[in-house]
Amino acid sequence: MPAELSPIDKAKFAAAKRAVDLVEDGMRVGLGTGSTAAWMVRCLGELVREEGLRITGVPTSTRTAELARQVGIKIVTLDEAKWLDLTIDGADEFDSELNLIKGGGGALLQEKIVATASDQMVVITDAAKEVVQLGAFALPVEVVPFGWQASRALIEELLISMDVLGRTTTLRLNGSQPFVTDEGNYIVDLHLNRIGDARQLGLMLNQIPGVVENGLFIDICDVVIIGHGDGRVELRDINQGTVEHDQINFAETENLFADLD
Ligand code: A5P
Repeated sequence: MPAELSPIDKAKFAAAKRAVDLVEDGMRVGLGTGSTAAWMVRCLGELVREEGLRITGVPTSTRTAELARQVGIKIVTLDEAKWLDLTIDGADEFDSELNLIKGGGGALLQEKIVATASDQMVVITDAAKEVVQLGAFALPVEVVPFGWQASRALIEELLISMDVLGRTTTLRLNGSQPFVTDEGNYIVDLHLNRIGDARQLGLMLNQIPGVVENGLFIDICDVVIIGHGDGRVELRDINQGTVEHDQINFAETENLFADLD
């Protein structure tokens, strides 16, 4: 493990390292997007290259697909895989019921499709993303470019009747241009501060013409693995109602990046 990694990166790595223990030979695995998921893809690649683990990966973004290929993971489309045993992904926020906000990296649509086509979704995260109530992180909503301003106006009108603390919205930009998702859509970020009823908001947003999907993942995540900078990890399983503690030994992972670019 490179010595210059920040405590937060060590925490993300620890969660990712613990999560790949859940992957068994022959599994079809959804590969999430973001900096935490990237650690997981690298850890899986190491198992494939050095221990002969045979898995098929379904990436949730072009970025993840590129990294998976680079580390030696065989990838296919979701339609080719049809159904997945497990998806491992990061999140922007999670609460005690393992409901999530996702989409900070702009991949929420593919992430939600892949996660819901899996027997199990495991979220890997650092402890700072746990919240009592979702909403401090801006909620991403993916909208089609055609008439996006009309969709945004309808979103803002909906927010008036929703139990939220803030109601401003912004179009996500990439420099001075709209950020464009892998599916060719735009993202409107909702700055809500606190979401009173995340389930209702998620359902209502998806009723608006032009809205493709939103970043609320309700009743989708089964397990959260929380990493800490000192290698401690906590695994919470919402279905089993169990909490496990473990320790990742960073010294054992020194060779992880040796054969990467
Ligand atoms: C990508 O669209 C997101 O859903 C990510 O999973 C989320 O933003 C977490 O990213 P990090 O692991 O980089 O914090």
